[in-house]
Amino acid sequence: MIDFHSHFLPGIDDGSDSISTSLAMLDAWKFQGIEMVCATPHFYATHNTPERFLYKRNTAFELLKEEAGERLSSFPAIRLGAEVRFFDGISRFDGLNELCLEGTDLLLLEMPFRPWTSRMIDEVGIIASSTGIMPVAAHIERYMDQPRHLFKEFLKLNILIQSNAEFFLEPGFTRKGIKMLKKGTITFLGSDAHNNGHRPVNIGPALDVISRSLGDGFITELTERQYDILDQFTTDDFF
Ligand SMILES: [Fe+2]
Repeated sequence: MIDFHSHFLPGIDDGSDSISTSLAMLDAWKFQGIEMVCATPHFYATHNTPERFLYKRNTAFELLKEEAGERLSSFPAIRLGAEVRFFDGISRFDGLNELCLEGTDLLLLEMPFRPWTSRMIDEVGIIASSTGIMPVAAHIERYMDQPRHLFKEFLKLNILIQSNAEFFLEPGFTRKGIKMLKKGTITFLGSDAHNNGHRPVNIGPALDVISRSLGDGFITELTERQYDILDQFTTDDFF
């Protein structure tokens, strides 16, 4: 299983505030049996440039690796990426490729929390159809109160969908989450973990809920599908 969405790199966004927190988070993933964790710090085009962001992200990762030393090999595999907040004009933005999950054309895209418009949906569609980048919509469960017709239109785009572990853990949410997972709407799961406190690594408990409902075989199949997609969107120059 891949945790596709997290904020464990130290001191780069509102996620982990120290190397020791980051290491404890990595331990939590290890104990929850996760094989790969994607580090996806927030990227806001209004506050950052891709160059500055990548420099800060890569430096934070180097510091973490240095401190982890030999422990690093016991942790899940780590892939660097970003959680890119949608903005008007994003489909024409120079540097979107660099913000994709490293070695792939997969872009974790955070939609706005303000009411969506059809222009926004169209623009995500343009990214998917004409930039060679495959958007992965972050934490889909947070947009359930968007205008129904736009939400449906959004799900019909040729994009991938990620949901947070919360979708399977919050009372009143679980049934909907399981239904979307079973239908194949959701491909990637994420803890969206920020720390070891109120936003912890909680993908393990979510997998327990999913497996009680859909069986262990479903989790194995979902994991295989996730790795297939990583393969499918791996860029030629990665290896
Ligand atoms: Fe996030």
